[in-house]
Amino acid sequence: MRIALIGTGYVGLVTGADFACRGQHVMCVDIDTLRIDRLRRGVMPFYEPGLPERVAEAVSGGHLTFTTDAAAAIRDADVVMCAVGTPTGEDGRADLSSVFAVADAFAQHAKDGAILVNKSTVPVGTAEACRARIAAAASNLRFAVVSNPEFLSQGTAVRDTRNPTRIVVGTTEQWARDILRVVHASFIEDHVPYLEMTPRSAEAVKCAANAFLATKISFINEVANFCERAGGDVEDVARAIGLDPRIGPHFLRPGIGYGGGCLSKDVRALMASGDEVGYVFRLLPAVEAVNEVQKWYLYDRLARAFGGVSGKTVAVWGLSFKPGTDDMRNAPSVPFIRRLLDEGAAVRAFDPVAMEQARMRIPEVALAETAIDAARGADAIVILTEWDEFKEIDFSPLSQAFSGSVVVDGRGVWRARSLPTTWRYIAVGVDK
Ligand code: UDX
Repeated sequence: MRIALIGTGYVGLVTGADFACRGQHVMCVDIDTLRIDRLRRGVMPFYEPGLPERVAEAVSGGHLTFTTDAAAAIRDADVVMCAVGTPTGEDGRADLSSVFAVADAFAQHAKDGAILVNKSTVPVGTAEACRARIAAAASNLRFAVVSNPEFLSQGTAVRDTRNPTRIVVGTTEQWARDILRVVHASFIEDHVPYLEMTPRSAEAVKCAANAFLATKISFINEVANFCERAGGDVEDVARAIGLDPRIGPHFLRPGIGYGGGCLSKDVRALMASGDEVGYVFRLLPAVEAVNEVQKWYLYDRLARAFGGVSGKTVAVWGLSFKPGTDDMRNAPSVPFIRRLLDEGAAVRAFDPVAMEQARMRIPEVALAETAIDAARGADAIVILTEWDEFKEIDFSPLSQAFSGSVVVDGRGVWRARSLPTTWRYIAVGVDK
């Protein structure tokens, strides 16, 4: 099977490498010439554990190539996979211009019998819209448009793609369904749950899955805020409710809220899709509102500890939106640091992998070489990403460097550790 994979972001690159390692012939396409040049030299466009090795394995097996020539890749392909970005537009709806550009290129160049598989996260009805566009532009072409959402998480993307929890294939055409089963044969042999449904259902699965994950996080953050006032330890509550199989243990970690390129975007896109079909979600605006204010609860507690942050030096540990990635899209660190600076604090920040991103996204902030350097002489340490390095840090050199007393743990990484007695520990759901 020959696959053209359009877009070399997290989904496109990880999926392309995975299919190539499974023996499909994959051509990864991007309009960014620098990115493609670097990929040809084995340089990844972002930090993702295991990805350089997986790409190298696919390239050395002779099954993965890179190009900027979308037309040539599409002409050659049995299956064209679309993994381009769908950022939030001004009105909260997903901006589908890149997806439609791929559909237009497909209409222009695809061979008879080719299939356009959409892996980008899109609103319900997008496969039908692509289908109509292609049919209008290429009336004699025999083709199908399939919705095939991707559920990988950044930081574990390679593992998630090798061992997916499920594969969802949305099409109403039997011949396309048969080809998609061939594309996914190795997963089906491994008994990965394989769900076939309509394109609209498949599109709804992705939005609903991310909206549900966001809901779980906002729920436990509200319980944490409640526990903080009512007494009780939110970690104990989360552990106990998570043992109920109807609730499950995952995504019940309280903190400063969710960030990243997906959850918030997809919650908003689902609300916007609801508006379009005349359904007003009542739950989802609250999920987003809880998430938006969550980081400011901790900020306010930090500010209260000093009677205002002006003139204080704050070490911020962790800039990426979660560990295992250098991605700072919607990372709570960005507004948190900007507000600290606006209110007169000096900030020294550190992240194990996101320093280059930080230089671009918050150039106004001073960066330290190490976590301990950031903390040296600071009045407070604020932990915003749960990197292992922070979780496991040795308190003895840290307490020599850190002369302050306030520690704000936005991810609860030190909850179970015994801290030097002179530190005041502030975390979501706890004030030790
Ligand atoms: C998410 C979905 O998990 C994935 O299935 C989908 O394909 C893409 O969107 P991702 O954005 O990589 O993946 O990150 P995720 O692991 O979902 O975390 C999102 C945010 O929620 C992070 O900021 C994380 O720190 C936060 N989070 C997660 C919590 O605050 N508490 C939790 O219990 C879990």
